[in-house]
Amino acid sequence: MKFIFGRPIDEPFDREEEIKALNELISRNQPTAVLGIRRIGKTSIILNVLKNQNIPKIYINVEDFIEGKSIDIIGLFSYFSSSLLSEAIKFMEPRKRIPIVLKEKGEEAIKTLREILGYIKINFNINLGKVEIFLDSTKKGGIKESLKELLDLPQEISENINKKILIVLDEFQYLKLGEQNFPGLFHSLRSKWQFQNNVEYVISGSAVGMLENIFKKNQPFYQFFFPIYIKPFCKDKSEEFLSEGFQDEGKTFLEDGIKKAVEYLDGIPAWLNYFGIKSVLECRTIDEKCANKVIEDIYKDPVIQVIIKDEYNKLGKNARKILKFIANKGGEGNLRGIELSRSSINEGIKSLFNEGYIERKDRGVYRIIDPIMSKIVTML
Ligand SMILES: Nc1ncnc2c1ncn2[C@@H]1O[C@H](COP(=O)(O)OP(=O)(O)O)[C@@H](O)[C@H]1O
Ligand SMILES: [Mg+2]
Repeated sequence: MKFIFGRPIDEPFDREEEIKALNELISRNQPTAVLGIRRIGKTSIILNVLKNQNIPKIYINVEDFIEGKSIDIIGLFSYFSSSLLSEAIKFMEPRKRIPIVLKEKGEEAIKTLREILGYIKINFNINLGKVEIFLDSTKKGGIKESLKELLDLPQEISENINKKILIVLDEFQYLKLGEQNFPGLFHSLRSKWQFQNNVEYVISGSAVGMLENIFKKNQPFYQFFFPIYIKPFCKDKSEEFLSEGFQDEGKTFLEDGIKKAVEYLDGIPAWLNYFGIKSVLECRTIDEKCANKVIEDIYKDPVIQVIIKDEYNKLGKNARKILKFIANKGGEGNLRGIELSRSSINEGIKSLFNEGYIERKDRGVYRIIDPIMSKIVTML
């Protein structure tokens, strides 16, 4: 195993149980939500499952369609349907795929579909051996009706190719922003999805509180998804992860160096990887002195600072103030002495919960979950 930073991987360390659970839930046709804070390894777990599921599947990161404070729903659904079509073509029986001309036509059409930012109407008829996509900009009911039709596409396709289809929507909570322009979007999703017995939906999300709101009573997705919670590595696993990594990199390391790093990084895989790479580059031997220095360097690293700053700046005024206040108390504490009204505190705390940045320890005592964030916020 080599340390890697930033990009998700498809063979994550020590996630066998989570992977097994997700595969099992998929085989039962159980809609599933993979939940956990940022950088904990959700996407990596999902990529492993996608790699090994031998059925038509599509993966969409909803976050890729965020534009400022809104979401490009049309872009997302165009991508959704064209990915679905491309994938379906792969799984069609050869006899249906012939003549190849038809396939090419299909792909051409898919390209057009990708490009179009207008109303979309699709007619999909694999049984007759052809893929037809009609783009209809004048249709009555407009875009809203077209979107509803697109929601039927997965089930239609799966019936046509006679195979189950797996659909993964990563960072799903952002789809909620679509309700600004398409009120009732989630309601439509739920009402379609719950009858699509050939389509398996897996979603994931970092903003844990926000997702939990989506699953609340009286919300469209109440009692729909089965949750799998992804936790940080425990101390032992974190140490094992670093030790194995250094071993594979051919690096000498001492136990106290590893222990020190884990003490600061708290079992968050992304940070453990970053520490791994940095210490391989910076130290001859990974000992306590090296660990201390590398950790200090991580706090000062512009790349890391930008990541944290970006997340911090997306928060509202109250949330930022509260986060900083707790960070200045060492990452955990109560809010006594903070200069905010009660209602501002409530609002700020709620948004920090929603984003998954803090957890409640005791009554009135909060903890910033990510230790690197906690440290860097004090410097902003
Ligand atoms: N189990 C793991 N073993 C090794 N590296 C991991 C593991 N989980 C996550 N990582 C690394 O941490 C970073 C964040 O992982 P990712 O799957 O993108 O997390 P998330 O989707 O929860 O934000 C990636 O660089 C990834 O390679
Ligand atoms: Mg992810």
